[in-house]
Amino acid sequence: MNRIVVLYAHPRGQRSNANRRLIEAAATVPGVAVRNLYERYPDFDIDARAEQQAIQTAELLVFQYPTYWYSPPPLLKLWIDTVLEPGWAYGPGGTALVGKHWWCVTTTGGTQSSYAADNLHGYPYETFLPPLIQTARLCGMNWLPPWVLHGVPHLGDDALRDWATRYRDRLANYPAWVADTD
Ligand SMILES: Cc1cc2nc3c(=O)[nH]c(=O)nc-3n(C[C@H](O)[C@H](O)[C@H](O)COP(=O)(O)O)c2cc1C
Repeated sequence: MNRIVVLYAHPRGQRSNANRRLIEAAATVPGVAVRNLYERYPDFDIDARAEQQAIQTAELLVFQYPTYWYSPPPLLKLWIDTVLEPGWAYGPGGTALVGKHWWCVTTTGGTQSSYAADNLHGYPYETFLPPLIQTARLCGMNWLPPWVLHGVPHLGDDALRDWATRYRDRLANYPAWVADTD
């Protein structure tokens, strides 16, 4: 079984520059299963049982997506709404996800400096994450510091290739680096 499941949600996957390279790199790592949600569920009809089964034995869930309006894209939100059922993911008897790691890997158009009180996006990027952090916590999961790949339009081929290599290495070396993030 796969130790790592990457839940990949890109509404415009064919036109992706950054996420496409990242997800291609992830798919080469042994023990990593990539679930491309927009390909799998073009009609948004998510199969909750299949998704639950797919992540049941994983130790690390990676949520990879481009940031759209300061949030994950809608199909990833729907995945959370549909798959994280009471009695399975939380609440009485809901222990399926306890102890797993939750890692967000996301890309933005905005540069890191534009995520500041005196700049275009008004807040540091981290201030948009509490709903996800608390979702992980409610399910007994361990939140890992996210990777935010800022300013994608300003990144050239070399930088994107470098990120893809670092991503592949991180996944290949899980969980060795987790202790360093505590
Ligand atoms: C509908 C929409 C909403 C977006 N919202 C944001 C946003 O809130 N913040 C931001 O920095 N970039 C935003 N962007 C830019 C995307 O995050 C950026 O194009 C994407 O991360 C690049 O990755 P890709 O090459 O894999 O598509 C938005 C783009 C679209 C199309």
